[in-house]
Amino acid sequence: MAQRRYVLDEDAIPTQWYNLAADLPSLPPPPLHPGTGQPIGPDDLAPLFPMALILQEVSTERWIPIPEPVRAAYAMWRPTPLHRALGLERELGTSCRIFYKYEGVSPAGSHKPNTSIPQAFFNREEGVRRLATETGAGQWGSALALACALFGMECKVYMVRASYDQKPYRRVMIETWGGACVPSPSADTASGRAILEASPDSTGSLGIAISEAVEDAATRDDTRYSLGSVLNHVLLHQTVIGQEARRQLEDAGAAPDVVVGCVGGGSNFSGLAFPFLAEKIAGRDVRVIAAEPAACPTLTRGHYGYDFGDTAELTPLVAMHSLGHGFVPPAIHSGGLRYHGMAPLVSHLVKEGLVEPRAYHQRECFAEAVRFARVEGIVPAPEPSHAIRAVVEEVERAREEGVERTILFNLCGHGHFDMGAYDDFLSGQMEDYELPQADLDRAAEAMAGLPTP
Ligand SMILES: Cc1ncc(COP(=O)(O)O)c(C=O)c1O
Repeated sequence: MAQRRYVLDEDAIPTQWYNLAADLPSLPPPPLHPGTGQPIGPDDLAPLFPMALILQEVSTERWIPIPEPVRAAYAMWRPTPLHRALGLERELGTSCRIFYKYEGVSPAGSHKPNTSIPQAFFNREEGVRRLATETGAGQWGSALALACALFGMECKVYMVRASYDQKPYRRVMIETWGGACVPSPSADTASGRAILEASPDSTGSLGIAISEAVEDAATRDDTRYSLGSVLNHVLLHQTVIGQEARRQLEDAGAAPDVVVGCVGGGSNFSGLAFPFLAEKIAGRDVRVIAAEPAACPTLTRGHYGYDFGDTAELTPLVAMHSLGHGFVPPAIHSGGLRYHGMAPLVSHLVKEGLVEPRAYHQRECFAEAVRFARVEGIVPAPEPSHAIRAVVEEVERAREEGVERTILFNLCGHGHFDMGAYDDFLSGQMEDYELPQADLDRAAEAMAGLPTP
């Protein structure tokens, strides 16, 4: 019988995070201070982040040690299993080998605690008692609430209004772990109040929720800000995924020809792909694919330039693919993929041709998620259904070319809180959104006066 799961012991939890910046042929342009237009320094970030994380953000050291209390917390669910998708291979009638790393076994149901735990830990070490953050679908907010509970901290979550209304159980999960959760835009911040005044029925966006959380942290001494994606240190923390996967693939006697992840801000993709990108940079032939929604096509149709990470222009300017910081994406069900920007490192990799971006509509993704659930058992979160769609496309391509490939993807979360979305799909109510070029042009105008990298 072919082996279906590759499982590691607790002592195989990585002891270091892998920093791709050490191996990149060139580094992305630095973040800029919006006032001076000059590169920002550690002091500019100090009101928002603890120094340990700021140093990780700018580090070019290849390996960064994982503190023992973080590894001990990781041991609640790590190492995560690597699955061979035997059911999907059979269903597709392919001789390609498909593997997936399953991050849905974490307490919060996704890859997000890989970074919420170290973020809470490093903040607590520097005496911070409260963290403020935003959340889209609620995955990140619940992961941070969990981490704050473990390290005895308070947690305030600004949750995008559309998801707050659509997904009440993520809010309840946040509250179960002791966090406070308000719909964004909220009346708790000046940026939230300004938006509510202009549009009282605003359904919110990640950009707006980030403005609120940044403002909360910047205006309170006891509070720092925590971000669930995009930043270098977040991507760094996620590399436990790819490191474990490499070892598990070795156990399976396999090496991937293609590595696939979905991208919202870029963290689960990077966590899986960075250790394999190191191999690619060293000369191994491996293709790396980033799958995004066609309704929020940051990498495939966005503009590469400096932009703000948030709507209210409170963050530094970062060089990235962006749809413009005023862009409010259509209300697709992959809440975690509705972000106007992208991790600067991922944007840089796309620009350098090391990563191929692809965009898919939500109905074709849900069709694959349902097929996957019926042959693999696990009900995927809507976000990684984009990765599954890309995998199926790669299988078709291998068939056309008459080759057998080994494909690895990140199943970065389960969809147990997304039954409303599955219901919409199964009952034929789900719609795709075709973004007219004029909408994208208008959104990108917001970047017109900003510096160019
Ligand atoms: C399950 C899941 N996958 C993917 C994402 C997208 O984020 P990232 O690109 O940082 O992995 C999210 C974000 O909330 C998520 O909850």
